[in-house]
Amino acid sequence: MSNKNYHSEDDFDKYEHYAEQFDPLVNNRQARRKRKSKVKYKPKRTKSQILSEIADTTTAEGDFSPTYKPARYEAGWLLDSIRPFYDEELITDVLAVVKGGKEASVYRCQGHRGTGRPLLAVKVYRPRRFRNLRNDKQYRDGRPMLTGEGRAIKTTDHRIMRALGKKTEFGAEVEHISWLMYEYTTLQVLFEAGGAVPQPLAASENAILMEFIGDAKVAAPALNEISLDAKQAEVLFREVLRNIELMLQHQLIHGDLSAYNMLYWDEKIRIIDFPQVVNSRTNPDARFILERDVTRVCDYFSRQGVICDPVTIAQDFWEQYVAPNPEDQAADESRQLINVEV
Ligand SMILES: Nc1ncnc2c1ncn2[C@@H]1O[C@H](COP(=O)(O)OP(=O)(O)O)[C@@H](O)[C@H]1O
Ligand SMILES: [Mg+2]
Repeated sequence: MSNKNYHSEDDFDKYEHYAEQFDPLVNNRQARRKRKSKVKYKPKRTKSQILSEIADTTTAEGDFSPTYKPARYEAGWLLDSIRPFYDEELITDVLAVVKGGKEASVYRCQGHRGTGRPLLAVKVYRPRRFRNLRNDKQYRDGRPMLTGEGRAIKTTDHRIMRALGKKTEFGAEVEHISWLMYEYTTLQVLFEAGGAVPQPLAASENAILMEFIGDAKVAAPALNEISLDAKQAEVLFREVLRNIELMLQHQLIHGDLSAYNMLYWDEKIRIIDFPQVVNSRTNPDARFILERDVTRVCDYFSRQGVICDPVTIAQDFWEQYVAPNPEDQAADESRQLINVEV
């Protein structure tokens, strides 16, 4: 992740003026070399700096345009957020918007040869995304803030703690990056552990680059958009439970798990959208959040013909992975003792 400073919403609006002209997404080697030699990701560039960059790129490359034409309001923000991926030769083009929203948008990109993936997804956040998160405290409880490198911020770091407490612009920046890095590091952990999640490739301050689920024509639908036959539903339900267990083995609970955040492609599911992930051991509402996730999963799968009882499932998981029932533990221990004696 680069060291570029976070951009406020005001910056977002400022970019509008430059959106039409400023467009670095061109598959042109000469231009890329030129860009690479520039000082990277300078924080808060002044108007004149941005204008000179525009002039610079325009004279070098003349008339160019990415395949996807962002709307004026999104262009500056989008291009700035994904520029690190472009400069680091991870993507070469933005092909289409998959889902656009006021808070986060996902785009289908062309992967650079070096990534081995012709298509990649980039999820770009706007700052509002996390400020609007309802009950955000519930998710933040029991988890440290993360830096852009994915390291936990120590509570002894007084400068950051003060900024967070006073809700300064810098504090908002730290929080924003933390949400994003929870999403990114969770994808990393789960992907490496064999979870059904898109492979994460890189994170910038406003965006995550990951495996694209879908093909050149369509993005994978979410489970809520499709119906399954009973046999398929049973198989996929087991797979979702396997993933919930895998998360619990890593002390993680999704926090917003539902048919909306599971994509279906090639007869497989992929779980997405992790910024609000909570720690199963340290979050005081962990049990409630786990049960809510399992209930939403069961809501969908029971409509597809699967018989499931969310309360029992959540309780079993809780006892197995988070807070073993003391009686069970005692029984286990005595069983072990017997084994030893035998
Ligand atoms: N890796 C991906 N591949 C294909 N489509 C994706 C991918 N990630 C997200 N999407 C699409 O973008 C939508 C929004 O992504 P999500 O992470 O759920 O963000 P949010 O719900 O916060 O806007 C998803 O519902 C899905 O349609
Ligand atoms: Mg979502």
